[in-house]
Amino acid sequence: MQQQFDFSGKVVFIAGGTSGINLGVAHGFAQAGAAVAVMSRSQDKVDAALAALKAHGGEVFGVAADVRDYAGTEAAFKAAQAALGKFDVLISGAAGNFPAPALGMSANAFKSVIDIDLLGTYHVLRAAFPLLKKPGASIVNISAPQAFIPMEFQMHVCAAKAGVDMCTRVAAMEWGAAGVRVNSVTPGPIEGTEGMKRLAPDQATRQLVTDSVPLGHFGTPDDIAQACLWLSSPLARYVTGVVLPVDGGWSLGGVSSSGAGMKQAFASGGKSATAKP
Ligand code: NAP
Ligand code: COA
Repeated sequence: MQQQFDFSGKVVFIAGGTSGINLGVAHGFAQAGAAVAVMSRSQDKVDAALAALKAHGGEVFGVAADVRDYAGTEAAFKAAQAALGKFDVLISGAAGNFPAPALGMSANAFKSVIDIDLLGTYHVLRAAFPLLKKPGASIVNISAPQAFIPMEFQMHVCAAKAGVDMCTRVAAMEWGAAGVRVNSVTPGPIEGTEGMKRLAPDQATRQLVTDSVPLGHFGTPDDIAQACLWLSSPLARYVTGVVLPVDGGWSLGGVSSSGAGMKQAFASGGKSATAKP
């Protein structure tokens, strides 16, 4: 990664920071000199992420917790603060997804995504706020194009991520006076991630998605990291309440092929690859 930002002396907490895009964001901040804390459900994933992040030479901290559990989330933040100090930056990116038609999932399946993505985001914001360095802190919620573009087989995610972006906007309004900026980043299709493994599980679906991206290719976790670094840097000091697509222009066409892609993903293994029933 080309590093243009200096986060030396800063503390960054990344909820859901142990794999994929969010781990890429953690690497970006660690490489920029920040002390980085990551949290997710799996202690094994936390340990693996810490081992990788240590390579940058800075302080790291990890804790296993589920964002659906408010008390556990709050305890995780307090443990990270005790280890590294108050937070300059909070990245909230824990999420769950699977392709399924509205009538092809149980009420509990719909609820599980709302619980992780939407309630989890609120829990993370709520638990972190007292531990943020104020004024000056930056929060970035990792959202998705589903927040503003309806996609078939994604009713649960569309509803949850729309809620995430409204949390961003309302928090930006309520917390601006405390000097806390709050923004969302909506990644496009990102290479090598669990999300794309689920939503574009085969070559035909990948091609449909690729063809609907104006820049003609998938992005990388580093593309998302660079946006988070900029949003959390002094260069973005007057930016708050925005939802920033970092998607190669994918959302401009309304993610035009995604409906077909989702259908294909569902038909060709997206369901059987991830579904319990
Ligand atoms: P991922 O690797 O599965 O990342 C999800 C992270 O959240 C993991 O660290 C996971 O670790 C953690 N997590 C999941 N449920 C959790 C819970 N209940 N409590 C705490 N942590 C939890 O997926 P990804 O594809 O990189 O997606 C990362 C983010 O980018 C998500 O917010 C997603 O909506 C967004 N996004 C992704 C894409 C894409 O192309 N992949 C596109 C648009 C938006 P554990 O399993 O250990 O909990
Ligand atoms: N289609 C339909 N329903 C599905 C499904 C699928 N592909 N995958 C899971 N479900 C249902 C389950 O059957 C269950 O419903 P039920 O109790 O009525 O049977 C419900 O969703 C919850 O599943 P469960 O596995 O018990 O939940 P969990 O809390 O262990 O996992 C998920 C949450 C389902 C979101 C899981 O996929 C996950 O942990 N995802 C995190 C990683 C991820 O999604 N990364 C990509 C981010 S973009």
